[in-house]
Order: sequence, then structure tokens, then C-alpha cells
Amino acid sequence: MAHHVTLGGRDVRYFDVGEGRPLVLLHAFPLSADMWRPQLEAPPPGWRLIAPDLRGFGGTTRDVASPGGRVDAPATAIDEYAGDVLQLLDALEIDRAAIGGLSMGGYVAFGLARRAPERIEALVLADTRSEADSDEARANRMAMLDTIRRGGSRAVAETMLPKLLGATTQATRPGMTKEVRRLIEANGPAGLADAVRCMMDRPDSTPLLATLACPALVVAGREDVVTPVALHEQMCARMRRATLVVIDRAGHLSNLEQPQAFGEALAGFLAAL
Ligand code: MLT
Repeated sequence: MAHHVTLGGRDVRYFDVGEGRPLVLLHAFPLSADMWRPQLEAPPPGWRLIAPDLRGFGGTTRDVASPGGRVDAPATAIDEYAGDVLQLLDALEIDRAAIGGLSMGGYVAFGLARRAPERIEALVLADTRSEADSDEARANRMAMLDTIRRGGSRAVAETMLPKLLGATTQATRPGMTKEVRRLIEANGPAGLADAVRCMMDRPDSTPLLATLACPALVVAGREDVVTPVALHEQMCARMRRATLVVIDRAGHLSNLEQPQAFGEALAGFLAAL
């Protein structure tokens, strides 16, 4: 199911399943495209799902091949991840696609909307926010950089797991905690640190919302403490063609925690396009 392609000297891993109109799924921090497994296992009829690992995550390298060997090529701005996604679409000869992103994936989807709105057929924005980081959030990012430096992805998992999964999942599904931990710990520290710096300096995408002409599905886990439901209501109110779906018994990783409800919302939205 996983495919590999070399783009700009970088090895890129992506999943590509189903047939029909393309929907690109962009993963959250600090995970990888593996977090979309429930959706990849059951692509909605008539849709092709493409889920890349962002630069420095999962099986996508952060460094690039050069004549002298491999050299560092960190992402330095959130929109560079969006540029990487556009490069993948070009390689797959896809002109226009629906773009879905969860949390950091949503920030990258906004980057795509900034760089190439004409290539976006529809947006799925899950458990994310349009605002830039507050001063408090930036201070937390500095602490996270320190966590990464000291303890790598294992320490990141320790810090983030209690926030990523909703209270219901944490109380009833220990296997899910284990699985998410495994996905986080599979990432190297350099790619994680790049993403933290990029998220910390990302622009405010709120002014973009009113300019979006495409239909949008906004999804929020009711128990999401990282990007609470109210933020999604505000995003929806600012968009012209957005529909909000709130998923019960799900936290920040709504697609993983409640794949059936998430899948139904997604399939319903896509079927109406
Ligand atoms: C994510 O899930 O991608 C992160 O929580 C986003 C963030 O830290 O802003």
C-alpha cells in the first residue's frame, strides 16, 4: 500500500488507495500518514486517497541526496510542506484535488490554499485552527523543542499523548494509546523539531477563510482539548460554504478515535461534491 518516490532529492513515502477523484490527507504532529489507516482501509466509493508523510516524518526523509552525499534540507516554514504536497501532486499528474488535514495537516492545507487555491476542489479541516500561535503557545513550543532535544520522540509521546486522545479513548481503549505512541516514536527528532519551528512561526490563516470558494467540511472531536469545538464553530462562521460535524467520544485525533463516525461524515461530504 505504501509507495515511494524521489522528489527534489528527497525520498517521499505516501499511501495511495482507491480509484476516482483524489483526496489528499495530511497528518497531524507528531504522527505520520499511518494515522489515516482507518480511512485508507475503506476509501469512499469513487475516491482515491493519497496520504503522504510530511518532510522528516514517517518514511519521508528530511535530507536530500546531493553529489557529495546527503545534506540537511529542513522545512523552514509551514508553507514549504504545502510546496512538497504540490510537488507530489505534480508527480502524480493530479491537477486538482480535495485536500484534508488534521491539526498540523490543517495548517498545511491552509498553506496550499495560500499557494495554489485553484488546485483545491474541497477542503476537510479536522481538529485544527486558523489562528497563528499565541505568545503562550510559542512559549510551549520552546519547551517542546527542549523536550525533543533532551528526550527525542519518546519524550514527545509522553508529553503529548494525554492531550491528543480524548478522555473516553484514554479511559476505555489502552490499545489506542499504545498505537499512537508507536507512531510518534517512529519519528526522528530532527523532523519533529523542524515542524515545531514551522508551526510556531506559521501565519494567521483566519483572513484566508472568507476567501475560500470551495466547499469545506470542518470536523471536531467533542473532547478535543488541543483545538476545542468552539474554534471550529468560529472557522465555519467565517467560511462561505462550510459544514461542521462534531464527533462524540473523540478527542484531537477524531479520525483514529472514532473512524466510523469520521468516515460517515467524510463520505457524506464527498458524495455531495
Ligand atoms: C497537531 O496535532 O498537529 C498539533 O497538536 C498541532 C499543534 O501543535 O499546533
